[in-house]
Amino acid sequence: MSDTIRILGIPGSLRRGSYNHAALRAAQALAPDVGAEIAIFTLEDIPAFNEDQLGTLPPRVRALRAALATSDAVLFATPEYNYSVPGVLKNAIDWVSRPAAESAWRGKPVAVLGASGGLLGTVRAQYHLRQIFVFLDMPALNQPEVMIARAREKFDAQGTLTDADTRRRIQDLVAALVAWTRRLAAGTSPGRT
Ligand code: FNR
Repeated sequence: MSDTIRILGIPGSLRRGSYNHAALRAAQALAPDVGAEIAIFTLEDIPAFNEDQLGTLPPRVRALRAALATSDAVLFATPEYNYSVPGVLKNAIDWVSRPAAESAWRGKPVAVLGASGGLLGTVRAQYHLRQIFVFLDMPALNQPEVMIARAREKFDAQGTLTDADTRRRIQDLVAALVAWTRRLAAGTSPGRT
């Protein structure tokens, strides 16, 4: 593991003006100050999962596998659709989770944030995603939690995160993911001496 932690940021929205994608751009700009670099991987051109196609993966699925292989950790930015994880994101997760023995997720340290137009800022989607991490065997960062509520008020028309408190919370999250990733690599966990 190099001095800089390489994080793969995955936005769960394909929308051009996505607040979740914009939140990852903010994280990307803040990351160098806490010893990380974030590459953003977007999920366009990933077809609906079909187990019959695992032998010859679609190109964008292959690209996701390759990006994960060279990343130390994962940061998901998830919207909330109908109180859960958007299908686009779940579909991508499913693709590279199989064959089970070759899951690209297993063991990857992971953190999550989310932005929504609503008052609860994706809390339900984030908890569904955390449930998925259990089966994927991804060690998830518990704290801090970053739920960006009323996203329209936190970003400007160009998609720049203008809310100072949200910027600070995102930077704290990335710093905690860096520390979590290093701790796991060193074989220690919180609470152990
Ligand atoms: C939504 N939205 C939404 N918001 C929320 O807080 N809880 C929800 O359950 C839902 N459900 C939902 C379903 C569908 C199909 C859509 C299209 C939207 C609103 C959502 O928070 C808003 O569109 C965000 O802006 C989506 O994230 P991006 O695309 O800005 O990253």
